[in-house]
Amino acid sequence: MEQELRILHLEDSAVDAELVVRELRNTKITFTIKRVETRDDFIKAIDGFKPDLILLDYKLPSFDGLSALAIAREKCPDVPVIFVSGVIGEDSAIETLKGGATDYVLKDKLARLAPAIVRALRESEEIRERKRAEEAVWDSEERLRIVAESAGDAIICIEAPEVITLWNKKASEMFGYTVDEAIGKAMHTLIVPERYREKACLGLKTFFQTGGGTLIGKTPEICALRRDGSEFPAEITISAMQIKGKWTAVGIVRDITERKTNIQKLRKTLNMTIEAISLMGEMRDPYTAGHEKHVAQLACAIAKEMGLSEGQIEGIRVSAFLHDIGKIVVPSETLSKPAKLNEYEMGMMKTHALAGFDIVKSIAFPWPVSQAILQHHERLNGSGYPNGLKGEAIALEARILTVADVVEAMTNHRPYRPSLGVGMAMEEITHGKGVLYDAQVVDACVKLFTEEGFQFGVVV
Ligand SMILES: [Fe+2]
Repeated sequence: MEQELRILHLEDSAVDAELVVRELRNTKITFTIKRVETRDDFIKAIDGFKPDLILLDYKLPSFDGLSALAIAREKCPDVPVIFVSGVIGEDSAIETLKGGATDYVLKDKLARLAPAIVRALRESEEIRERKRAEEAVWDSEERLRIVAESAGDAIICIEAPEVITLWNKKASEMFGYTVDEAIGKAMHTLIVPERYREKACLGLKTFFQTGGGTLIGKTPEICALRRDGSEFPAEITISAMQIKGKWTAVGIVRDITERKTNIQKLRKTLNMTIEAISLMGEMRDPYTAGHEKHVAQLACAIAKEMGLSEGQIEGIRVSAFLHDIGKIVVPSETLSKPAKLNEYEMGMMKTHALAGFDIVKSIAFPWPVSQAILQHHERLNGSGYPNGLKGEAIALEARILTVADVVEAMTNHRPYRPSLGVGMAMEEITHGKGVLYDAQVVDACVKLFTEEGFQFGVVV
């Protein structure tokens, strides 16, 4: 043994104690031994001597081994104890082991002592190691628990067949169910609105079978349900883990009500600002009052009919309101001239596309607004202006704006002519379909007027 072993020996016989010392000296065990005879000395030695191993005689004049064992188990439970006794019956031996002793050795068979010590120390080390590992696991679980409890988002774990196994404090606050009420329940019955439950169940079923799913690793926005039946917008990050061979879904849910409200406020402010800017342009050209609003209405309806995303439609709406903003550079007498424009005036008028582009190009819209404005007078065959772009070189948003712009202009009164009517407008775009105007856009527009009863709204 490399390290000196500290042995506390409860023994009233100096001779027997010496025999033990001699026996140990014949081994490779390096040790220091302290002999005590009384209860008080035994307790003092445990505290002061701090033994690595305790040897106990079974019977002493003023004390006994079993009582000493009980004290040792209480004061130093990790220190191995071996009984070394002259006479010990089978019942007594069992009693010592039940009391927590590692082994017992008879005094007339002291040759067994060294192997018994080695085994006791090894077992004791194994127990300590196991305890350390258990403490490490407990420590790690405790840390996780503290993190989960202090998180600002709801954290929910779900295991097959769809049972909630973790529900943190924030989840209770967010959804209104206590931990006891949530653990063991099926997630969809607690926090998924009725209309989405079937889809949620199917998704979870696939997940527990495969560990995959369309939402894994993503952060979608969802509609969540509170205990009181109210719903709120939430953002959920779902990750997949395998625990003991079973797939577990970990969901981190964030209430985004405030964020959504702020975005709506910002969007409303942006829309009002854009409409105000658009109105400034219209004020210089009263004969086309409402044109931008009408174009926005029709362009958005066409985009919707074509199945464009909500974001794209929003971009088209903004582009429509601002598409003629560049007319600010055109003299107002040209804008409101109650007759056809001459070549010079038309040249002036054509500058509005580029001027509009220059006005908005530095605004970081999340949509291609400046391109749509620049290109709204381009034509599919390259006959438009300002750049004579052809086909798909013209942005889809601009191709939609073009058709909406032409139809709106033809169906409304102009200073130099009365309204030409919807029929003539449909004829114009159908005639130019695939040549001047995007075929899909024309189809969507014609469908809106002929099948869906589209009408320009009344402009106040
Ligand atoms: Fe224009």
